[in-house]
Amino acid sequence: MGIKFENNTFHLFNQNISYIFTILKNNQLGHLYYGKRITHRANFDYMLVTNSKPNTVCSFEGDGAFSLEYIKQEYPTYGSTDFSEGAYQIKQDNGSIVTNFIYKNHTIMQGKPKLMDGIMPATYVEDESEATTLTITLEDDLLDCLMVMRYTIYEDRDVITRDVKFINKGVENLVLTRALSCCVDFDHKDYELLQLSGAWSRERHIKTRKLVEGIQSISSSRGASSAQQNPFIALKALNTDEHRGEVYGFNLVYSSDFLAQVEVNHYETARLTMGINPFTFEWQLKKGEEFQTPEVVMVYSQNGLNGMSQVFHSLYRERLVRGKWRDESCPILINNWEATYFDFNEDKIIDMAIEAKRLGVELFVLDDGWFGKRNNDCTSLGDWYPDLNKLPNGISGLSKKITDLGLKFGLWFEPEMVNKISDLYKKHPEWIIKTPNRKISHGRNQYVLDFTRNEVIDYLFNIMRKILKKSEISYVKWDMNRNITEPYSLNLSKEQQGELMHRYILGVYQLYHRLTKEFPHILFESCASGGGRFDPGMLYYAPQGWISDDTDAIERLKIQYGTSMIYPLKSMGSHVSAVPNHQVNRITPLDTRGNVAYFGTFGYELDITALSEDEKDIIKKQIEFMKQIRKDIQFGTFYRLLSPFNSTDKVAWMVVSKDQKTAFLGVYQILAKPNPKYDRIKLVGLNPNYQYEIVRKNLVLYGNELMNYGIIYNNCVNESKERKIGVSDFSSDIVILKALERCKR
Ligand code: DGJ
Repeated sequence: MGIKFENNTFHLFNQNISYIFTILKNNQLGHLYYGKRITHRANFDYMLVTNSKPNTVCSFEGDGAFSLEYIKQEYPTYGSTDFSEGAYQIKQDNGSIVTNFIYKNHTIMQGKPKLMDGIMPATYVEDESEATTLTITLEDDLLDCLMVMRYTIYEDRDVITRDVKFINKGVENLVLTRALSCCVDFDHKDYELLQLSGAWSRERHIKTRKLVEGIQSISSSRGASSAQQNPFIALKALNTDEHRGEVYGFNLVYSSDFLAQVEVNHYETARLTMGINPFTFEWQLKKGEEFQTPEVVMVYSQNGLNGMSQVFHSLYRERLVRGKWRDESCPILINNWEATYFDFNEDKIIDMAIEAKRLGVELFVLDDGWFGKRNNDCTSLGDWYPDLNKLPNGISGLSKKITDLGLKFGLWFEPEMVNKISDLYKKHPEWIIKTPNRKISHGRNQYVLDFTRNEVIDYLFNIMRKILKKSEISYVKWDMNRNITEPYSLNLSKEQQGELMHRYILGVYQLYHRLTKEFPHILFESCASGGGRFDPGMLYYAPQGWISDDTDAIERLKIQYGTSMIYPLKSMGSHVSAVPNHQVNRITPLDTRGNVAYFGTFGYELDITALSEDEKDIIKKQIEFMKQIRKDIQFGTFYRLLSPFNSTDKVAWMVVSKDQKTAFLGVYQILAKPNPKYDRIKLVGLNPNYQYEIVRKNLVLYGNELMNYGIIYNNCVNESKERKIGVSDFSSDIVILKALERCKR
């Protein structure tokens, strides 16, 4: 296992996967194979396909077969016989973009180095034996510039990560106009491209399309990874479904502008590239300087989309998320946003907290509106001191009262923003991102602070630190509610304006880094108008994220289903909210709202004091139930079964505990069907030889029966005994399966 180098060829492999590339005759790197594990051999030359083709341009005189238009490459560039879009481009003093990086040397080591001293988010290892890293240095001697390409393969995970560093050792100032994190050349185009697309309130819906000749891409140019497109694409074989078939998944560990692209050329090869979006990027690589790209995570699975997702889930849960919250279940919280919006005072918050505590909630989160004069969204962002009119005892007094009740206390911030009506803006109007002499656009009446400035980060660190130190705070919700426009920084030279978006996000990471270091006990939840920046870069700092402002249980089926394509349940903020729902006005049963929210972090976002005693009873039971099951749900294996993107009536998913002794099946009816068809749901992931009791259904079946025959879903009655699945709109059921004692050996 690990990485072998023989006959100029690198073979990265573990039990299940192989990745092979070679040093070509022109001393650049040529791609040979990525997929299911194959036996190592001393020589993989047979995989290198060169061909004499009519009308191509070739690298060597007298050799009509060596053309980069045809040969698969590792990290190509445009300009020397390759006419597709490359992975990088460097503009030189004389205006040329032609480069020639050739192999210089390489090292192979156990473990995985950090990126930028750990500030740049990346997956990691805890023990060096978990992964092997190959570092290859290539050099363009005319430019005296190095390109350092890094590949890490995990031993027990079907994961390869990649990143690239450019080092300018020369005398010339270079300009990076494209610096993507990876390229994989596939030798055919018979794949479907899967992406997660959406908008505010309907984030990460699954979309697929067949590859065709030309460029197909998704990207963001908003200064955030975005709700519109997630920095993820997968290529799946045409017959791949949730449970079977080949799929390659690519996810950029980055929270700002990205590009994920597949270019199919005239020989029907498909070039996949991913990295920082070149559209909003240009980097001055001055002499002596270096530039580090973000990391891309590549997952190969033969076990369908669920197989791919499970590899991402465990990697992110165990080796991306850090700190004490990585290994602990999520606290059950209540958030006051949809209950009060800006309209609250200390008494109201305490009343809610008392009731929440009585029902079993563990954490009270005070959302927007507690600072400055924040009675609406026109004012006070930047002024991070408590509004004593609303909270006469400040945050420290309120947090004390709440913790005295036996609850933990959490607080909302939106550090990256400022309102013009604020003390901060009065003092530092120059701190916002704006283009000189141009109109500035607002989003929700707010402006973006220039995170390329150290003084901005220092100000925010100090003011947040003061509150966090003085109060009893164990959770912070870090929100971000608008994208960047009129991109320009007064802090950067005119040549550096193309660096703004990347420097901005490095500033965000820097502030996260300082706060998480100083307050390691605090659980950070990231948020960006819901799921507008839900990506692995954020997960590195904030173990959970608010996946959408849409809290309607039926809309959530799609959002949670899509988000689970890459991100683990434990990272997915999910709340039960009031009806009629505030986003779509829909009325759904309280048990269905709970049944959807269980498959996530779980919490409430409603005025708990305004509920009926019956509703409070249901909530009390939901919380007791979640406390019993959350370890299994949040650390178990998640399977998608019936997709809301294929079906207009039923949706199903399930979690199997690590030891396969317990499983939870969630089944959700969207619209009821009169006289419905016969429905049978086959379960997955169980132990075929265990006998499982189907709790509350008076039935014991073998795992192999449940996985091959399944469960019939025509006449199942859910907990309330009133709504039958299939007979009522928005009804749902959670089926609990428990392995019998005699199987538990
Ligand atoms: C947007 C978030 O997504 C909401 O949950 C809430 O925190 C509001 N911002 C507060 O302004």
